[in-house]
Amino acid sequence: MEYRKLGRTDMTVSAIGFGAWAIGGAWGTVDDADSLRALHAAVEAGMNFVDTADVYGDGRSERLVARLRRERPRDTVWVATKAGRRLPKQTVEGYSHENLTAWVDRSLRNLDTDALDLLQLHCPPPGIYDRPEVFGYLDDMVRAGKLRHYGVSVETVDEALRAVRHPNVQTVQIIFNMFRLKPAEAFFPEAKARRVGVLARVPLASGLLTGKLRRDSAFEADDHRRFNREGERFDKGETFSGVPYDVGLDAVERLRGLVPAGATLAQLALRWILMFDAVSCAIPGAKTPVQARENAGAAARPPLDERTMAAVRAVYDETIRGLVHVSW
Ligand SMILES: NC(=O)c1ccc[n+]([C@@H]2O[C@H](COP(=O)([O-])OP(=O)(O)OC[C@H]3O[C@@H](n4cnc5c(N)ncnc54)[C@H](OP(=O)(O)O)[C@@H]3O)[C@@H](O)[C@H]2O)c1
Repeated sequence: MEYRKLGRTDMTVSAIGFGAWAIGGAWGTVDDADSLRALHAAVEAGMNFVDTADVYGDGRSERLVARLRRERPRDTVWVATKAGRRLPKQTVEGYSHENLTAWVDRSLRNLDTDALDLLQLHCPPPGIYDRPEVFGYLDDMVRAGKLRHYGVSVETVDEALRAVRHPNVQTVQIIFNMFRLKPAEAFFPEAKARRVGVLARVPLASGLLTGKLRRDSAFEADDHRRFNREGERFDKGETFSGVPYDVGLDAVERLRGLVPAGATLAQLALRWILMFDAVSCAIPGAKTPVQARENAGAAARPPLDERTMAAVRAVYDETIRGLVHVSW
């Protein structure tokens, strides 16, 4: 496993971490025993960073991560969680001192800890970035010892650029993968200049970039890959990275030819992300030990050559850019 500094924080994190959304819900049936096995396998493979949120299974994901930490008292497992999505409707006013305090207190209980390693605002409405007092509430909670650090999870590059102008924002979580190149062009230079940690989410484009999905793949009714294809429930970009399914499948066929000997397409997708030194950690979701180990294995792969990097860019420019670049 490779480890990288998480921005200006005191955390050195595995370059591949564990995305804990799917083990909470919204990805079809999951079994807590399998999920816990996946978390243990991740740590055994060198991962020391887990990304969760208070709304993933309404606390189920946070509670599983707490169990992992209890069962591995000797291992350091940094946990990032998120707050804001418990609001019935996203409004700037909803990010009040009172609400933020209540959400943080609930996550402290779910995660069975006195202090959260990293709290991220969970894709808040963009108006938040014009409200310094909201970041002041978070500063208060850092001073009170409830938060060690805070950051934001954003939908767009524009939001990322606005977020990092708040001086105590330590991390930005953003969608970054072979189907979403804009952050590298328009945000990473700023993140590096400010030494803000970047967490690359949806690194496998919701599974598309593993190469296992097909035109006739079926998803359960409670899987967002079925119910959010057009952004019916949350931002469309969170499902398949906002790429129309058939376009994504065609692009994947072109990427298959780039997979190095002995690697899988998922590992190519993750190793490609690690080629960008602005990224501290890519956080693929995993539901099983096999997935967690395969994902961790990407960090042990050698760097990709220039020909491969150029070929990925060509696939993006020719098939994806026109569909996503302006939106996020
Ligand atoms: N707004 C936000 O802040 C936000 C939004 C989205 C995600 N996130 C975070 O980012 C993390 C990652 O994003 P994501 O989970 O949406 O998408 P992702 O990492 O691109 O895809 C994860 C899914 O791909 C499949 N998969 C993973 N590894 C695999 C492997 N090696 N082989 C085959 N299939 C594999 C699994 O689903 P199946 O087995 O069911 O196919 C898994 O749930 C989340 O878990 C969450 O922590 C945050």
